[in-house]
Amino acid sequence: MTAIAPIESSTLQLAASFLRKGGLVAMPTETVYGLACDASNPDAVARLYAAKGRPSFNPLIAHVASLEMAQAEAVFCDAAFKLAHAFWPGPLTLVLPVASTGTVCDLARSGLDTIALRLPAHPGARSLIAGFGRPVVAPSANRSGHISPTLAEHVKADLDGKVDLILDGGPCTQGIESTIVSFIGDQPTLLRAGTVETSALEAVLGTSLARADEGDGISAPGQLKSHYAPNARLRLNASAPEAGEAWLGFGPDEANGLNLSPSGNLTEAAANLFSMLRQLDAEADRIAVAHIPNEGLGEAINDRLARAAHRDD
Ligand code: TXA
Ligand code: MG
Repeated sequence: MTAIAPIESSTLQLAASFLRKGGLVAMPTETVYGLACDASNPDAVARLYAAKGRPSFNPLIAHVASLEMAQAEAVFCDAAFKLAHAFWPGPLTLVLPVASTGTVCDLARSGLDTIALRLPAHPGARSLIAGFGRPVVAPSANRSGHISPTLAEHVKADLDGKVDLILDGGPCTQGIESTIVSFIGDQPTLLRAGTVETSALEAVLGTSLARADEGDGISAPGQLKSHYAPNARLRLNASAPEAGEAWLGFGPDEANGLNLSPSGNLTEAAANLFSMLRQLDAEADRIAVAHIPNEGLGEAINDRLARAAHRDD
């Protein structure tokens, strides 16, 4: 049994002591709950991969408590600095060349000479990392391929007994994983859409972002098509549920089921996405999902839905 603890100074200290001993601590972030461990400790990282059942070729994001901590880990170009100044702390991950002073172990980077860095906005996550004093790696705190957790209870449902402590920071406000931009190669490249929107990034950069191709070497790890997979089969862009289907709506509609946002608000829809998918997955074998407009945050929502719907069989 893993305890769920509210965030206060005593539980933050306990969490940091688990991290120092190579343990695993689930922490809230503004996007989804992350499963944190000492980024410099390969034994801890191996335990983390095992707890998630994650393919070890999938590199992890190192989470830092300050820009200074980030600069010790990676070589920032001017454009990366611009994005960090504009969007950190917040749901943006930057992929950069690893610095000679970097402390993140090879296993966490899957042997790449690049590193993904994020400075989260959630005060609980930042306090934990600052108290620990070094970067933590933190993939979403779910079993690999399962739905990302947006509540402490979701973490417990997936990882009870496999992690040392779950810090409860309430529901995640963003509900979708961070936007990932890579500065490896000739042009800044969007590797994963998220709640920091492409147009906002391009406005700060003053150039357009390249898009990673599916199956592209560098982005392949995290771009597994079946990454966000509920057990139920998903039918996307549905206009109404068919017999035997649970319904996940968007905008005003009359169907029985759940609604990501009755008012058609994409921010609300993103925050509800994973918990509603999880709820319907427990109830039904098939889920019909309403059309989500592919603009703004809709791009990230549709990306997650496409992955959740994908089957290799
Ligand atoms: O919002 C988030 O980013 C959450 C919270 C917990 O912070 N974390 C998260 O981590 O989504 P994870 O492990 O589920 O996703 C990490 C992504 C993967 O797509 C991985 O391939 C990519 O980051 N990644 C990590 N290092 C990379 C690198 N060096 N080059 C390219 N992609 C990288
Ligand atoms: Mg994940």
